Amino acid sequence: MSEDGKTSDAVDAQVLRSGTIRVRSEDDILRARQEARAVAEEIGFSTTDVTRIVTGVSELARNMHLYAEDGIMTWREIEAGRDSGIELVFDDEGPGIDDIQGVLRAEHSTSGGMGRGIQGTKKLMDAFDLTSNAEDGTTITVRKWQ
Ligand SMILES: Nc1ncnc2c1ncn2[C@@H]1O[C@H](COP(=O)(O)OP(=O)(O)OP(=O)(O)O)[C@@H](O)[C@H]1O
Ligand SMILES: [Mg+2]
Repeated sequence: MSEDGKTSDAVDAQVLRSGTIRVRSEDDILRARQEARAVAEEIGFSTTDVTRIVTGVSELARNMHLYAEDGIMTWREIEAGRDSGIELVFDDEGPGIDDIQGVLRAEHSTSGGMGRGIQGTKKLMDAFDLTSNAEDGTTITVRKWQ
């Protein structure tokens, strides 16, 4: 099952540079945060936007570690026309998300959490795309434009 998320943009972006972080421990979550912060600052995002981006990374990297144990965050500095931005992809081969619609409405949590991580992150970003199934695991792609 695939859900395109309302805010997903189909903008064709050029990738200027990219990097990956493997996330399988609490320390890796911290590293993912730090790297995303450094890249977002270098791109020139405002302090507020840097905080939004780092908050999103926290939520999605934590989910990967918590629910799939292991995953990869890929960051990309992107450009489309005069716009510059950041794309972050969180990819794991975990069990997948059963109730994608419920998760996007923040009505579903399997860990006793608030169930707001994904919904909150979607609000902080300009584009959000979620693909998840039991065979391939979960891939979440977010973008923020400057
Ligand atoms: N990478 C993933 N793999 C498998 N299931 C996931 C993944 N990410 C999220 N989920 C599922 O989606 C649900 C909702 O995630 P979300 O981050 O929105 O809330 P939460 O983690 O339950 O609580 P919170 O993040 O507010 O502490 C989770 O409870 C979990 O069942
Ligand atoms: Mg969560």
